[in-house]
Amino acid sequence: MKGLFTLRVLTIDQIMEIINLAIKFKNGLVKKYPGQKMVNLFYENSTRTQYSFQVAMINLGIAPLAVDLETSSVKKGETLYDTVRTFQSLGVSGVVIRHITDRFYEDLREIKVPIFNAGDGKSDHPTQTLLDLMTIYEEFGKFEGLKIAIVGDVTHSRVAHGAAEVMKRLGLEVYVSSPPQYRDDTAAHIELDEAIETCDIINLLRVQFERHAHEMEMSKEEYHRLYGLTVERQKRMKKGSIIMHPAPINRGVEIASECAECENARIYKQIENGVYVRMAVISLALDGFFDNIEIP
Ligand code: CP
Repeated sequence: MKGLFTLRVLTIDQIMEIINLAIKFKNGLVKKYPGQKMVNLFYENSTRTQYSFQVAMINLGIAPLAVDLETSSVKKGETLYDTVRTFQSLGVSGVVIRHITDRFYEDLREIKVPIFNAGDGKSDHPTQTLLDLMTIYEEFGKFEGLKIAIVGDVTHSRVAHGAAEVMKRLGLEVYVSSPPQYRDDTAAHIELDEAIETCDIINLLRVQFERHAHEMEMSKEEYHRLYGLTVERQKRMKKGSIIMHPAPINRGVEIASECAECENARIYKQIENGVYVRMAVISLALDGFFDNIEIP
């Protein structure tokens, strides 16, 4: 298969090559692919991922096709495979897909153009992990030995599940800190107040209300007090540490509104880096970097 499906199948050297190319794009590298077209197929809502892929395409001289799935034949029941196969016939050079189903790409083994996973179910969000890694690398110049706490609704988070495995391989000490009902075996648990004082990176997760089978047992205010980054906790953070969040953010739930743009928050820098990471993966894919990827 061709494309970026999950970072789990890439080596550390390949991951570093993507991050280094993204940094070069940020520093002004220009590459153009005139005459190419690509398409975004978002079966779930998105602002950052969808539009930063679009900006990345435009920056690379690639025409993004404007597709509204609400008015497409998806609404007549067309399958994911048939939709992607249609765009391949229309001459696109790549397809960006966000889908509710874990490992949706297993149905696309016969597709010949590169596919970019923009988030699959609760499994992976590889370009989010890459932009998170780029942000950490810019900040600290290394991964080895850094301590990160992934905080919040871990069970429903493809960001947490996709990132933890790669971060451990890169030498980060990875912990999760979450309420018991949103905890799984992604990484060792750490109490939030210990994480706040000892971790280099506090990576907050959005409480994914739309994925919950039952309403949260506590109020948003109680969640914030017990498990959120309050102003008081932000003040106690380790010197030199940073706050990250994939966004969108629930202000007053997992993060106090005042902390979203405080001096050690990197949330909007993550969004900015998302464009460069997506430029890097598109450019590498068109140059053959993701050809013949084996998906176990
Ligand atoms: N972080 C992220 O994936 O945001 P969107 O859902 O807006 O793309």
